[in-house]
Parts: sequence; C-alpha cells; structure tokens
Amino acid sequence: PLQCAVIGNPIAHSRSPEIHHAFAKQCGLALQYQRLLANDNDFSDHVRGFFAQGGRGLNVTVPFKEKAFALADVISPRAQQAGAINTLWMQDGQLHGCNTDGIGLVQDLIRLGFDPKQQRVLLIGAGGAARGVLLPLIEAGVKQLRVVNRTAAKAQQLISPLAHTTSALEAGGLDNTQGIWDIVINATSSSLQARHPLDVPLSFSSQALAYDMVYGAQPTPFMQSCLQQGASHSADGLGMLVGQAAESFAIWHGQRPDPAPVLTFLRQQLE
Ligand code: ATR
Repeated sequence: PLQCAVIGNPIAHSRSPEIHHAFAKQCGLALQYQRLLANDNDFSDHVRGFFAQGGRGLNVTVPFKEKAFALADVISPRAQQAGAINTLWMQDGQLHGCNTDGIGLVQDLIRLGFDPKQQRVLLIGAGGAARGVLLPLIEAGVKQLRVVNRTAAKAQQLISPLAHTTSALEAGGLDNTQGIWDIVINATSSSLQARHPLDVPLSFSSQALAYDMVYGAQPTPFMQSCLQQGASHSADGLGMLVGQAAESFAIWHGQRPDPAPVLTFLRQQLE
C-alpha cells in the first residue's frame, strides 16, 4: 500500500488517519496512513526517515508546521505566505511543501453556501491559524477582509506583506469590529479557554455565517455568541479539517475525494 502519515506532538488524538483511509476507500487506493510522534530534536530525522523508506505524503501538525517550513526545499506560494507547511512530499529528490489549511477553509465555506467571493469578511486572530488562511481568502475574491486581534499590532504585522496586493485588507484591535459582516471567522484559540471567552460586539448581514476554526461535540462559545448577536448560521472547524485533508490527498494521489460523507461520519463520532 501507499504510505502516508501525520506527524505532530501530541498526535494520538489526530483524526487524519481515519479521514485519509476513508478518502482512499472512496478512490479505490490501497493506503496505510499512520501517526508519528516527534519531538523538537528528532522532527527532521523522522521526516527524512519517512521519505527514505518510500513514504508518499506526510501531514504536519502542531507544533511542527514552522519547522517543516524551514526543512522543505521547494515551498508553494500558499505555504510561503503562511510561513508554515502542513503537507510534505518528495518530487525529483526534493522535499516539497504546501499549506492546505486555508484552501480547506475556503472550500468548507463554499460547501456551507457561503462562498467568500465579494463578501465582507471579519477574521479574528493573528496567530498561525489566521496567517494560514489570509492568502486563500484574498484569492477567493473577498470584497473586504478585516483582521482584528487582541494585540492590534500583530494584526497590522500580519496584513502588511499583502496590503499592497489588495485594497480589501484592513487591520485593527478587538474594538475595531464595526461594520456589517457576511462572514466572521474565529481564528483565535479563545474557544479552547473556557475562562476567557471572546467577547466582541458584532453586526451581521441578513444571511451571515459565524465560523469557528476549532471544533467539538457542542457549538463553541463563539458560535453561540454570534447566533445571539444575529448571525443566521454558524459552523465549527470540522469541515476545514476534512477540507485540508482532501486538498493534501489530491496533491499526493492526484485524485479529489468527496469530503461530505467523511464529514458526516466524523460528526456522528463526536456526538
Ligand atoms: P494559533 O496557531 O492557533 O493561531 P497562536 O499563534 O498562539 O495560535 O495565536 C493565538 C491567537 O489567539 C492570537 O491571535 C491571540 O491573540 P494575541 O495575539 O493578542 O495573543 C488569540 N487569543 C488567544 N486567547 C485569546 C482570548 N482569550 N481572547 C482573544 N484572543 C485570544
């Protein structure tokens, strides 16, 4: 079978093996997809060893996406902008890297009926998760993209390399959420911290989506707060997880799986 894996720390909780095995079944591929636990000091050895043994594709997750970026020989424009890599493969003896997180998000937004094209989008957060989705959102043709962050200067820093490419980009602090939003995306880790919920005033258009990049069995505090403030729809990041996996799968195997049935299956497992 084709050998693929996901590398991270921790890694036991990763859903990537089941997602990729389900995709492989759909596409009629024999695939073995494993979890690799690494540490800071042996990450690159693990990566080199995996490909030396004929590995086809490697996903990289927390906390190694920046290390993978430093290791790759050939880096895609998306990974370049993200400063992080979640998808590695070998081609002509060189280690190639891409970042599929942002395109996974955009595809999930489209699946939900919220194509970001010509939409007013508010992105909350300026860490790695926000950075990874910035370029794909711009490429999707947003009308307005404002990045706001608890530390406003970080939002400003995040947009500055791209600000000259589009007039749609703005940055500010959490007190700069004024405006009417079609899509609001939470890219902060606040949903994982029950004691510090994200509390920002928001105004939504009549058909608006609140999207939290994290996921869980229950709607996240951010999703609940947005629904209370008038968002008509909300979603968590499970679809983004499946979306980024589908994109990695397509890079490695040249076949595009259908995320929908896999997403339904994962959702049932969470309940
Ligand atoms: P990730 O890779 O998940 O983006 P990160 O790089 O540590 O993780 O970034 C975390 C993001 O969540 C940052 O935007 C952070 O805001 P600061 O830059 O001001 O630190 C944001 N964040 C974390 N906890 C938060 C909270 N309770 N309220 C608001 N923002 C929060």
